[in-house]
Amino acid sequence: MSDKMINAALLGLGTVGGGVYKVLKNQESEMEAKLGSKVQIKKILVRNLEKAAAKVEDPSVLTNSWEEILNDPSIDIVIELMGGIEPARTYILAALNAGKHVVSANKDLIAVHGKELLDAAEANHVDFMFEAAVAGGIPIIRPLKQCLAGNHMTEVMGIINGTTNFILTKMTQEGMEFSEALDLASRLGYAEADPTADVEGLDAGRKVAILASVAFNSRVVFDDVYTEGITRITSKDIRYAREMGCDIKLLGVARNTEEGIEAYVCPMLIPSSHPLASVNDSYNAVFVHGDAVEDAMFFGRGAGELPTASAVVGDIFDIVRNIRLNCSARIGCTCYKDIPVKKMEDTCNCYFLRMQVEDRCGVLAEMTAVFAKHHVSVAQIVQKESKIKDSAEVVVITAMVREGDFQKAMKELEESKAVQKISSMLRVYGK
Ligand code: NAP
Ligand code: HSE
Repeated sequence: MSDKMINAALLGLGTVGGGVYKVLKNQESEMEAKLGSKVQIKKILVRNLEKAAAKVEDPSVLTNSWEEILNDPSIDIVIELMGGIEPARTYILAALNAGKHVVSANKDLIAVHGKELLDAAEANHVDFMFEAAVAGGIPIIRPLKQCLAGNHMTEVMGIINGTTNFILTKMTQEGMEFSEALDLASRLGYAEADPTADVEGLDAGRKVAILASVAFNSRVVFDDVYTEGITRITSKDIRYAREMGCDIKLLGVARNTEEGIEAYVCPMLIPSSHPLASVNDSYNAVFVHGDAVEDAMFFGRGAGELPTASAVVGDIFDIVRNIRLNCSARIGCTCYKDIPVKKMEDTCNCYFLRMQVEDRCGVLAEMTAVFAKHHVSVAQIVQKESKIKDSAEVVVITAMVREGDFQKAMKELEESKAVQKISSMLRVYGK
């Protein structure tokens, strides 16, 4: 192989794989000046050769044999864009063990098997990069690992799922209910055929696991992350939140506290004055706090063909530079600490509670007695007009309280005669 040409193989030619193919083509004329080498896609692994043929200039690069790629010593970089756990995990491990560098956008895999993959990369002195796995086109993994390495990061949080942000934006700005906004997201191609991972917060949960691991130098896996989605949010919750000066966003939150790491995804009220409240439609934004940098925010397209390909190609170019200077595997796994992850019941937040209660004297006193018993301090209480006879709608915002105590108070309220129904419970974002 000429040192002016570096061969790569793509695994998958779907949305992101197709985007990477296009971005590399667009970069072709500048690559040598930029990197000192050209990158050539020598092979592309797909399942359906016929479907993929229309997407490439030369269909002879297409294959459905993984072994053809693995056993080709001229291929230095494997770019995994198939998704899912298997066979992606097996292929990536085999590529790393064969001395090939790997780029992947596969958050599902990395949030669970990240340590195994990074260990294999280190053992073989090769690079394993995954910038596109979190927030698509937004640079966040490399900034955390490199540009912000001089910080002790205490928080990394944000809007890291575009589909749910689009849905919540439509509910907020156009008064749509969840199902109507989800239908629109599907029609416009934002939501996948099965939107469960997005709307139930699982996709964001995987990204929180990766972000927390990188930001706090301590491994957090998907199972450590508490997840709650947006399916129960109503346009009424959003309206009431706005009356209280807040918006509702699906937030992924990771905090490094003295007692351990907090990692969760849930819809939260956030003050409308917070920069994240104005991140709308399918945009993503990640907000970080470090002891030196203080606050920094990263904003952009969290998904899509070309934005995600932009991050993947950045990784490929980094690897090419490392190969040329013979300095691969400079930055591998950065998890050198072992910080415990707190259970959700031990996290602290303020809460928004919307309830239907009996409309009679003494009800509020009964409710506040339950709150007091469980150390819940009420910060704000508002009674709304109710169309239901002998019933009042009450909205409560609490002061900061331990989740476990708040859940006990909620359970007792649910069982009390005074409370007819707890219509919604949401956390309120605050430091
Ligand atoms: P996609 O459109 O479904 O494409 C997947 C591609 O992989 C298809 O070409 C498919 O081939 C191929 N493939 C799947 N399993 C295969 C197997 N066993 N053998 C050979 N080829 C296989 O998926 P995508 O949206 O591009 O996502 C790819 C990865 O990027 C995922 O890990 C995803 O989480 C991540 N990601 C995506 C986005 C985004 O905006 N889409 C953003 C960030 C990260 P066939 O079509 O022939 O089945
Ligand atoms: N489904 C994700 C989103 C994109 O809606 O943000 C892939 O990470």
